[in-house]
Amino acid sequence: MKTESPAETEAVGRAWGLEAGPGWVVLLYGDLGSGKTVLARGVAQGLGCPARVHSPTFSLLHVYRGGRLPLYHFDLYRLDGPEAIARAGLDEQLVNEGVTVIEWPERLGAGETWPAWAPPPQRLRRVLLEITGPNQREIRYEDLGLGRLG
Ligand SMILES: Nc1ncnc2c1ncn2[C@@H]1O[C@H](COP(=O)(O)OP(=O)(O)OP(=O)(O)O)[C@@H](O)[C@H]1O
Ligand SMILES: [Mg+2]
Repeated sequence: MKTESPAETEAVGRAWGLEAGPGWVVLLYGDLGSGKTVLARGVAQGLGCPARVHSPTFSLLHVYRGGRLPLYHFDLYRLDGPEAIARAGLDEQLVNEGVTVIEWPERLGAGETWPAWAPPPQRLRRVLLEITGPNQREIRYEDLGLGRLG
Protein backbone atom coordinates (compact mmCIF):
# COMPACT_ATOMS: atom_id res chain seq x y z
CA MET A 1 0.00 0.00 0.00
CA LYS A 2 1.05 3.63 -0.40
CA THR A 3 0.72 6.34 2.21
CA GLU A 4 0.78 10.04 1.39
CA SER A 5 1.64 11.50 4.81
CA PRO A 6 3.10 10.58 8.21
CA ALA A 7 -0.46 10.60 9.57
CA GLU A 8 -1.46 7.91 7.08
CA THR A 9 1.50 5.73 8.01
CA GLU A 10 0.63 6.23 11.66
CA ALA A 11 -2.93 5.10 10.87
CA VAL A 12 -1.59 1.89 9.32
CA GLY A 13 0.31 1.19 12.54
CA ARG A 14 -2.75 2.03 14.58
CA ALA A 15 -4.81 -0.58 12.74
CA TRP A 16 -2.09 -3.15 13.38
CA GLY A 17 -1.99 -2.24 17.07
CA LEU A 18 -5.72 -2.81 17.32
CA GLU A 19 -5.30 -6.21 15.71
CA ALA A 20 -2.17 -7.30 17.60
CA GLY A 21 -2.10 -10.15 20.06
CA PRO A 22 0.37 -11.37 22.68
CA GLY A 23 3.69 -12.53 21.29
CA TRP A 24 3.40 -10.67 18.00
CA VAL A 25 6.56 -9.36 16.41
CA VAL A 26 6.74 -6.72 13.70
CA LEU A 27 10.04 -6.38 11.84
CA LEU A 28 10.45 -2.96 10.22
CA TYR A 29 12.90 -2.89 7.32
CA GLY A 30 13.61 0.37 5.50
CA ASP A 31 16.11 3.17 5.04
CA LEU A 32 16.72 6.03 7.43
CA GLY A 33 13.66 8.24 7.45
CA SER A 34 11.42 5.73 5.73
CA GLY A 35 8.86 5.89 8.53
CA LYS A 36 9.64 2.97 10.84
CA THR A 37 9.26 5.03 14.00
CA VAL A 38 6.11 6.69 12.67
CA LEU A 39 4.62 3.24 12.11
CA ALA A 40 5.70 2.07 15.58
CA ARG A 41 4.03 5.17 17.04
CA GLY A 42 0.80 4.11 15.39
CA VAL A 43 1.08 0.60 16.80
CA ALA A 44 1.41 2.09 20.29
CA GLN A 45 -1.71 4.17 19.68
CA GLY A 46 -3.63 1.13 18.51
CA LEU A 47 -2.64 -0.71 21.66
CA GLY A 48 -3.84 2.24 23.70
CA CYS A 49 -0.42 3.17 25.11
CA PRO A 50 -0.73 6.71 26.47
CA ALA A 51 2.86 7.82 25.75
CA ARG A 52 4.07 9.05 22.38
CA VAL A 53 6.68 6.82 20.76
CA HIS A 54 9.99 8.45 19.89
CA SER A 55 13.15 7.15 18.36
CA PRO A 56 14.99 5.20 21.07
CA THR A 57 18.25 6.72 19.89
CA PHE A 58 20.34 6.20 22.98
CA SER A 59 18.76 3.02 24.19
CA LEU A 60 18.03 -0.10 22.24
CA LEU A 61 14.66 -0.67 23.80
CA HIS A 62 11.78 1.40 25.05
CA VAL A 63 8.88 -0.30 26.77
CA TYR A 64 5.49 1.39 26.52
CA ARG A 65 2.96 0.27 29.09
CA GLY A 66 -0.55 1.32 29.95
CA GLY A 67 -2.16 -0.11 26.84
CA ARG A 68 -3.97 -3.36 26.16
CA LEU A 69 -0.56 -5.09 25.87
CA PRO A 70 2.93 -3.78 26.57
CA LEU A 71 4.84 -2.58 23.52
CA TYR A 72 8.55 -3.39 23.23
CA HIS A 73 10.06 -0.99 20.74
CA PHE A 74 13.58 -1.89 19.65
CA ASP A 75 15.86 0.22 17.50
CA LEU A 76 18.88 -1.92 16.71
CA TYR A 77 20.55 0.56 14.34
CA ARG A 78 23.62 0.88 16.51
CA LEU A 79 23.99 -2.80 17.23
CA ASP A 80 26.68 -4.82 15.63
CA GLY A 81 25.56 -8.40 15.25
CA PRO A 82 24.05 -11.09 17.45
CA GLU A 83 26.91 -11.16 19.95
CA ALA A 84 26.30 -7.53 20.78
CA ILE A 85 22.63 -8.30 21.18
CA ALA A 86 23.35 -11.11 23.60
CA ARG A 87 25.76 -8.86 25.51
CA ALA A 88 23.04 -6.26 25.81
CA GLY A 89 20.74 -8.93 27.23
CA LEU A 90 18.25 -8.40 24.46
CA ASP A 91 18.01 -12.08 23.61
CA GLU A 92 16.00 -12.58 26.78
CA GLN A 93 13.63 -9.75 26.00
CA LEU A 94 13.04 -10.31 22.34
CA VAL A 95 9.68 -11.97 22.63
CA ASN A 96 7.26 -12.34 25.44
CA GLU A 97 3.59 -11.77 25.99
CA GLY A 98 3.74 -8.25 24.71
CA VAL A 99 3.95 -6.83 21.20
CA THR A 100 7.47 -6.34 19.86
CA VAL A 101 8.35 -3.87 17.11
CA ILE A 102 11.92 -3.92 15.82
CA GLU A 103 13.58 -1.25 13.70
CA TRP A 104 16.69 -2.42 11.83
CA PRO A 105 16.01 -6.14 12.34
CA GLU A 106 18.90 -6.79 9.93
CA ARG A 107 21.11 -6.31 12.97
CA LEU A 108 19.75 -9.50 14.47
CA GLY A 109 22.12 -11.21 12.07
CA ALA A 110 19.62 -13.77 10.79
CA GLY A 111 19.12 -12.42 7.28
CA GLU A 112 15.46 -12.22 6.44
CA THR A 113 14.36 -14.76 9.02
CA TRP A 114 13.82 -14.88 12.74
CA PRO A 115 17.01 -15.75 14.66
CA ALA A 116 17.15 -19.33 15.88
CA TRP A 117 18.47 -18.23 19.30
CA ALA A 118 15.41 -16.10 20.08
CA PRO A 119 12.11 -17.53 21.28
CA PRO A 120 9.67 -17.85 18.37
CA PRO A 121 6.94 -15.23 18.08
CA GLN A 122 3.27 -16.08 17.85
CA ARG A 123 3.11 -14.08 14.64
CA LEU A 124 5.87 -12.52 12.66
CA ARG A 125 5.10 -9.61 10.34
CA ARG A 126 7.91 -8.56 8.00
CA VAL A 127 7.45 -5.03 6.76
CA LEU A 128 9.36 -3.15 4.09
CA LEU A 129 9.04 0.63 3.96
CA GLU A 130 10.27 2.45 0.88
CA ILE A 131 10.58 6.17 0.23
CA THR A 132 8.72 6.76 -3.03
CA GLY A 133 8.31 10.55 -2.77
CA PRO A 134 8.83 13.42 -0.32
CA ASN A 135 5.68 12.48 1.58
CA GLN A 136 4.97 9.11 0.05
CA ARG A 137 5.93 5.69 1.38
CA GLU A 138 5.33 2.26 -0.05
CA ILE A 139 4.55 -0.19 2.74
CA ARG A 140 4.57 -3.91 2.00
CA TYR A 141 4.34 -6.73 4.48
CA GLU A 142 3.92 -10.44 4.87
CA ASP A 143 2.95 -12.53 7.86
CA LEU A 144 5.09 -15.54 8.50
CA GLY A 145 3.36 -18.21 10.42
CA LEU A 146 0.54 -18.40 12.89
CA GLY A 147 1.32 -20.33 15.98
CA ARG A 148 4.89 -21.35 16.64
CA LEU A 149 7.28 -20.91 13.78
CA GLY A 150 9.68 -23.57 12.66
N1 LIG B 1 4.08 8.94 4.17
C1 LIG B 1 4.93 9.09 5.20
N2 LIG B 1 4.99 8.14 6.15
C2 LIG B 1 5.87 8.24 7.18
N3 LIG B 1 6.74 9.24 7.34
C3 LIG B 1 6.73 10.22 6.41
C4 LIG B 1 5.83 10.18 5.31
N4 LIG B 1 6.04 11.28 4.56
C5 LIG B 1 7.01 11.96 5.16
N5 LIG B 1 7.44 11.35 6.28
C6 LIG B 1 8.52 11.83 7.15
O1 LIG B 1 9.56 10.87 7.12
C7 LIG B 1 10.18 10.80 8.39
C8 LIG B 1 10.11 9.38 8.92
O2 LIG B 1 10.84 9.35 10.11
P1 LIG B 1 11.00 8.08 11.02
O3 LIG B 1 11.72 8.54 12.23
O4 LIG B 1 9.71 7.39 11.21
O5 LIG B 1 11.95 7.18 10.10
P2 LIG B 1 12.69 5.84 10.52
O6 LIG B 1 12.45 4.88 9.42
O7 LIG B 1 12.30 5.44 11.90
O8 LIG B 1 14.22 6.30 10.49
P3 LIG B 1 15.45 5.75 11.35
O9 LIG B 1 16.04 4.59 10.59
O10 LIG B 1 16.39 6.92 11.38
O11 LIG B 1 14.97 5.35 12.71
C9 LIG B 1 9.47 11.77 9.30
O12 LIG B 1 10.18 12.98 9.30
C10 LIG B 1 8.12 11.95 8.62
O13 LIG B 1 7.55 13.18 8.88
MG1 LIG C 1 13.32 5.18 13.66
